Formats: sequence, structure tokens, C-alpha cells
Amino acid sequence: MTMRIAVAGKGGTGKTTLAALLVRYLIEERKGKDILTVDADANANLNEALGLSVEETIGTILEDTKNPDAVPTGMTKDVFIEYRLSRAMVEEDAFDLVVMGNPQGPGCYCYPNDLLKRYLEKLSKNYDFMVIDNEAGLEHLSRRLLPMVDLLLVTSDATARGIRSAGRVKDIVEKVNLEVTKIGLVISRSREGEAKALDQEIKNSGLDLLGEITNDPLVAEYDLNAQPLLSLPDDSKAVQDSKKLFQALSL
Ligand SMILES: Nc1ncnc2c1ncn2[C@@H]1O[C@H](COP(=O)(O)OP(=O)(O)OP(=O)(O)O)[C@@H](O)[C@H]1O
Ligand SMILES: [Mg+2]
Repeated sequence: MTMRIAVAGKGGTGKTTLAALLVRYLIEERKGKDILTVDADANANLNEALGLSVEETIGTILEDTKNPDAVPTGMTKDVFIEYRLSRAMVEEDAFDLVVMGNPQGPGCYCYPNDLLKRYLEKLSKNYDFMVIDNEAGLEHLSRRLLPMVDLLLVTSDATARGIRSAGRVKDIVEKVNLEVTKIGLVISRSREGEAKALDQEIKNSGLDLLGEITNDPLVAEYDLNAQPLLSLPDDSKAVQDSKKLFQALSL
């Protein structure tokens, strides 16, 4: 069974950082397990946090294949798209990465969205873990592009407004009937005592607080220097906090 874990939340609340920390954790603690990471943010940057460069995104493939001449004779469009998609996969020793890019664009994209969903469903079956980094706008969630999710981590900064926004993510999930088995809140970049002070807001949001990734100057430094977060040292605050969180979630 594939464990599908997605990260969602307001812009700049640490989604990509949390996704990268999760990949780091799974590589270290679940040695030998197959991990698929999906960057579902149109403005993709999970690859940078993971230290990879990406040439093709699903978005550009779908764009290319809109041209009828792009499909070789004797091949159906679906088969051709699947073939191109399989080539867009970045394969590393410890994990694979697929980047959605921007499959939206103008016009009706119901067809590619559906195809993409089926592709992700099929693909995910080959892995033990699937880690999905979402964009802030919730496009992928609200279009129900994502397959069923076992665990949805909703990130927030340590502010009342942030927590309310996280609560709205939960509302969207319920409204569009996304299949989410477990959903919870992760507070990011917090300082000592801040999560405690937000106790009442958290209760009002209807989300359970799963944990916090406190402010770690090393994360900021790595991002500043475009260093992959996968190479954060074991004793980094963010690595320690995330380990505690993922262990508590029995990951
Ligand atoms: N625990 C942390 N300690 C210090 N800085 C952090 C921490 N988590 C995230 N940051 C910083 O906050 C910024 C936003 O983080 P990140 O890119 O992970 O957020 P995001 O939710 O993915 O943003 P976007 O909505 O743009 O995709 C980055 O500059 C990152 O370095
Ligand atoms: Mg991000």
C-alpha cells in the first residue's frame, strides 16, 4: 500500500520546506523504501529544495501534445502522453520526482486533468510513499486533481490569520469531498511559546495540531545559498522538530 502524504497551506508557510524535510526523513528512517515526490506547485521549486534540476514538466508535455501533429501515427494520444510523462520523471537513487508545472493554462483542461489524475494514481502504486508539495492557491485540491490522500499536512505560520486560513483549507477539503484519511495542522517557523498562545485559534480552526517546525536559521541560510535542504545536518532544529512530528505520525 502506498502512503500518500500531501502538504498544503497559505503562501510562504513552509510547505516546500516541510515536504523536503519529510523526504529527508523517509530516506534516513525508511531505508530502501520507494519514494515518489510530486511538485504540484505551478511555480515549482521543490526540486531546488531537493537539489535537482528539472527539464520537463507535465504542464509542458500536455501543452506540446495539444498539437495534433505531435502524436506519432499509429499511436493514440493517451499512449503518447503516458510515454512522454514517463520520460518526465527525474530518477534519483533515493527517490523519484515528478513536476506538474502549469497544466492549467487557458481553455478547458478537463481532459488532461483527468488523464493526469489517472496517471498519478497508477504511478503512485509503484511506491511506498508519495510526498506531494502543493501550491498555495489550492488549485490542485479544488480541482480534485490529486488522488486520494492518506495524510494532509496543513501548514501555517504562527499567526491567528494563518491558523484561520489553515482552517479554510480544511473547509475546502470537506466541500470538494477530497478523500483525505487524516488531516492536521503543522505550525512553521514558530518561536518559543507561540503555538501555545494560538491555542484558542487552533481549537476554532477544527484542526488538530500535529506539531511545529520552529524557526531554524539554518533553513533560511540554506535557502539563501540555494543549498538543498536534504543536506541539512541531523542536529538542525528543523530536522529535529520534523523527526519528532513524523515519528508521532508513525511515518
Ligand atoms: N522552520 C523554518 N525556519 C526558518 N525558515 C523557514 C522555515 N520554514 C520555512 N522557512 C523559510 O520560509 C520561506 C518559505 O518557505 P517555503 O518555501 O517552504 O514555503 P511555501 O509554503 O512552500 O511557499 P510557497 O507558497 O511560495 O510555495 C523560505 O524562505 C524558507 O527558507
Ligand atoms: Mg512551496
